[in-house]
Amino acid sequence: MVTGIAHNAVNVLNMDKMLDFYQNGLGLKKAFELHREDGSPWIIYLKIAPGAFVELFYDGVVDRDQNYAPSQIGFNHWCITYTKLQSPLARLTAGAYVKADTKPVPFHGDGLNLWIDDPEGNGVEIRQLKGEAAYGGRDEILGIDHAAFVVSDINKALDFYRDKLGMKELPPIEKDGKPWISCLDAGNGQVWELMRGGTQVRANTWQSYGSTHVCLACDDVFATVETLRSKNYPIMIEPNVGADKNTQAWVTDPDGNRIEFMQIHPDSPQANA
Ligand SMILES: [Fe+2]
Ligand SMILES: [Fe+2]
Repeated sequence: MVTGIAHNAVNVLNMDKMLDFYQNGLGLKKAFELHREDGSPWIIYLKIAPGAFVELFYDGVVDRDQNYAPSQIGFNHWCITYTKLQSPLARLTAGAYVKADTKPVPFHGDGLNLWIDDPEGNGVEIRQLKGEAAYGGRDEILGIDHAAFVVSDINKALDFYRDKLGMKELPPIEKDGKPWISCLDAGNGQVWELMRGGTQVRANTWQSYGSTHVCLACDDVFATVETLRSKNYPIMIEPNVGADKNTQAWVTDPDGNRIEFMQIHPDSPQANA
């Protein structure tokens, strides 16, 4: 049912600073923007890869601690992959988003990994999956690799994402010989990571700055909703057509994270970005 991670949505305090980081640092391109009915700016969409975006919402509100500690329940970080990390690293260094001597760390054989915070404290991982030679020297953004959530109860989280939503379970990532991160197939080669160890509840209003929701693309939003309903899972917002022409529906996961399901319309700005 789920075919990929369509976007990560962030409520922003200072749009200029965030745009500088995501555009000039990470290298994402502005795709389009939406305005509210009164004409005021609402959301800026930056494109990562076909069908994959970050949504930057204006007017985030400081009503919570923005420290994404591993004990804090909820969205923890997301990961963008590149053919090479040299270019984003050089740009992030030039923009003083990372220290001059920052080096990515080796990851899974020939990959490289770097953890950074955006200007408002949101965790972003950037990753080079294979050695540069594998891409013939091409220098580009490949897409979203994963989104990671700290969960309060791994069994409840798996019951929702695996058993009710139907995401296939992949081998877990272990720490000290024990399962640590449960990995689920989000479609499109992307992974939905559920990290054990959440103990602290973090405020999570629609306006709270930082991560506000993550969107999963679906072939058929109505079918996804009916499947969840048939398993007695509550639907927060029933399927409806949004301002962007796409059909969307919303649930909250067992820890209260807002999850949007979206069926992309061929005439939508996302499909034509
Ligand atoms: Fe990660
Ligand atoms: Fe969204």
